[in-house]
Amino acid sequence: MVSGSKKKVLVAGATGYIGKAVVAELLDRDYIVFAIVRKENQLEYSDQSNLNVISLEIGKNADWTKQLPKIDIIISCLASRSGCEHDANFVDYSLNSDLLYFALKIKLQHFILLSAICIQKPKLAFQRAKLRFNSKLMSSGLRYSIVLPTAFFKSLSGQVNRIKNGKSFLVFGTGKRTSSLPISEIDLAKYIVNCIGSEESWNKSLPVGGPGPAVTPIDQAEMLFKIFDKPKKIKHISPRFFDFALVLLFPVSFFSQKIKDKVELLKIGKYYAEESMLYYDAEANAYDASKTPQFGEKLLYEYYCSLRDEPDKIPDMGSQKLFS
Ligand SMILES: NC(=O)c1ccc[n+]([C@@H]2O[C@H](COP(=O)([O-])OP(=O)(O)OC[C@H]3O[C@@H](n4cnc5c(N)ncnc54)[C@H](OP(=O)(O)O)[C@@H]3O)[C@@H](O)[C@H]2O)c1
Repeated sequence: MVSGSKKKVLVAGATGYIGKAVVAELLDRDYIVFAIVRKENQLEYSDQSNLNVISLEIGKNADWTKQLPKIDIIISCLASRSGCEHDANFVDYSLNSDLLYFALKIKLQHFILLSAICIQKPKLAFQRAKLRFNSKLMSSGLRYSIVLPTAFFKSLSGQVNRIKNGKSFLVFGTGKRTSSLPISEIDLAKYIVNCIGSEESWNKSLPVGGPGPAVTPIDQAEMLFKIFDKPKKIKHISPRFFDFALVLLFPVSFFSQKIKDKVELLKIGKYYAEESMLYYDAEANAYDASKTPQFGEKLLYEYYCSLRDEPDKIPDMGSQKLFS
C-alpha cells in the first residue's frame, strides 16, 4: 500500500466500470475517498473507513455541487451511458462543467478526467461533447490531466457468449482494418491514480493503452476460439451495412428523437468498425501503435481466460453491445 498522505479525492462516476476500479485503487493507496453515487444506485466497498459515499440527485438542479465537501483532487469518470447527443451533452459536458465550476470555487489542486483516445479524430456527438469540456478544463487555469485510453477489456467482450455457444465471430470487412491496445480496468485505474503524484502527467492529454501488441478483431476471434476450444467460424459483414441503415433512418430522424438516437448509435458502430483506438498521427494520417504509450500488465488473452474459468464475470454489455 502506498500512502495517499491523506489527500481527499472526489470520484465522480464512481459506479462505472473504470470509476469503481479507481475508487478501489485510491482506497488501496490510503487516500480519503469521496465517491459520488446517484441516489438510486449503490457502491461496493461501502464499509471501508476511508470511503465516504455521497448519494446525490446529480444535476437535477444547478446547485447539486453545493452538497460536495472541500476536497483536494477530483477524478471524473463520468460518462454518458448511451453515447447519444443529448445524454453526452448533459453528462460529458454539463455535469463535468458543474464539477469544474465547483473546483474553481474551492481552489482545487488537480482535476483528472477520464476521456477517450477516439477524440483525436472526432466524428460523433459524444466526442464533440467531450472535446468541448476538455478545452474548458484546459483553459481553466487548474492543474489537469486528461487520460485518453484505448479500448477497455469489457468493450472487447461482446462476443464471448457467442463463441462459448459455438456461434461465429462477427467482423466488419476483413476484421484487420482496426486495432487497439486493450487495457484492463485495474491497470487503467492505477494509471489514473498515478497522475496525482507524477508531474509529467500534469497539464497534459495522455493517450494510453495496455501492454502490446495491438490487437485486431481477427486476433480477438483467434484468442477466443483457442481459449474456448471452438472451431474457427468467422462471419464477415460488409462495413456498408451501417451506410445502408443510415440512409434508411436518417430522413426519419428529423421527426423522432428515438430514431435520432438510433442514427447516432449506428454512427458509433460505423466509427468503431473503421477507426483504430490508437495514437493518431495527423501528419501521416494514420494510427500508430508504436506511438501509443503502453501501461500495465494484464493482457486481453489472460482476461479472456478468466472469463472461461469464471463465466459469471462475462460483462453485461447493455447498450454498448453491438453483437449478441
Ligand atoms: N469502452 C471503452 O472501451 C472505452 C475506451 C476508451 C475510453 N472510454 C471512455 O471511458 C469513459 C468511462 O467509461 P466507463 O465504461 O467506466 O463508463 P460507465 O461504466 O458507463 O460509467 C459511467 C459513469 O457515469 C455515471 N453517469 C452516467 N450518466 C449519468 C447521469 N445522467 N447522471 C449522473 N451520473 C451519470 C454512471 O452512473 P450510474 O452507474 O448511476 O449510471 C457511471 O458512474 C467514457 O468517457 C468513455 O468514452 C471507453
